[in-house]
Amino acid sequence: MKGVILAGGKATRLRPLTLVTNKHLLPVYNKPMIFYPLEAMAKAGIKEVLIITGPDHAGSFLNLLRSGKDFGLKLSYEIQEEAGGLSQAVALAESFARGKRILVILGDNIFNHDLRNAVLEFEKQEKGAKVFGKKMPGMDSRHYGVIEVKDGKVVSIEEKPANPRSDIAQTGIYMYDDQAFGFISKLTPSARGELEITDLNNFYVDQGTMTFELMEDWWVDAGSSFDELLRANNLVAGELGNENTPEVEK
Ligand code: G1P
Repeated sequence: MKGVILAGGKATRLRPLTLVTNKHLLPVYNKPMIFYPLEAMAKAGIKEVLIITGPDHAGSFLNLLRSGKDFGLKLSYEIQEEAGGLSQAVALAESFARGKRILVILGDNIFNHDLRNAVLEFEKQEKGAKVFGKKMPGMDSRHYGVIEVKDGKVVSIEEKPANPRSDIAQTGIYMYDDQAFGFISKLTPSARGELEITDLNNFYVDQGTMTFELMEDWWVDAGSSFDELLRANNLVAGELGNENTPEVEK
């Protein structure tokens, strides 16, 4: 399985921090944000990773991450010319994937869940995709995709619903077989003008081939607000045993 990290977008929710740089280059405690998903990829046993970012700061990613050798990875880079949504970005990975399955991680997702077993399980899955959910009671569902599960099966995924059908947030970690690219070519832009990752995922839900894993430990979409960015900093500092770190709710 190959890895894909999505690191584009305008990150308007984090302005002015993101006026002259890319969100995924911002610090999360002692490292740039994108280090965390890269380390998660390496830990999961992935060897080759494609980084997809916008044209404005692509050079900074190359300067920072170079060949990927320091992470034990071989990195490639691809430019998403327009911020047209996460599925549009995934489509750019087609030639990199070359028919192999892909693990996609959004570059602002910070978590301590080990993906190794899920990678092995997904390799055994005959076909389809896998999403990772996190129970977030009381969440503001207008920030997340929401996954509805019955008897361990995904029955629906809704993007940022006003009235969520469950308390399980869809994280930014996805596994796809090579049907993904055909599905994306059938997508049409959502109300906000983007090709949504949730619409891609729903092709698999309809096909009955979407599997699901619940993440037990902590997970943060660090790009969603200043508070979540702060929470990610504190959680990482706490993991490192920094005694000055305030207690954070996981
Ligand atoms: C994206 C997805 C959403 C998911 C979230 C997790 O939203 O569209 O379904 O819950 O990532 O990080 P975004 O943060 O890009 O608005």
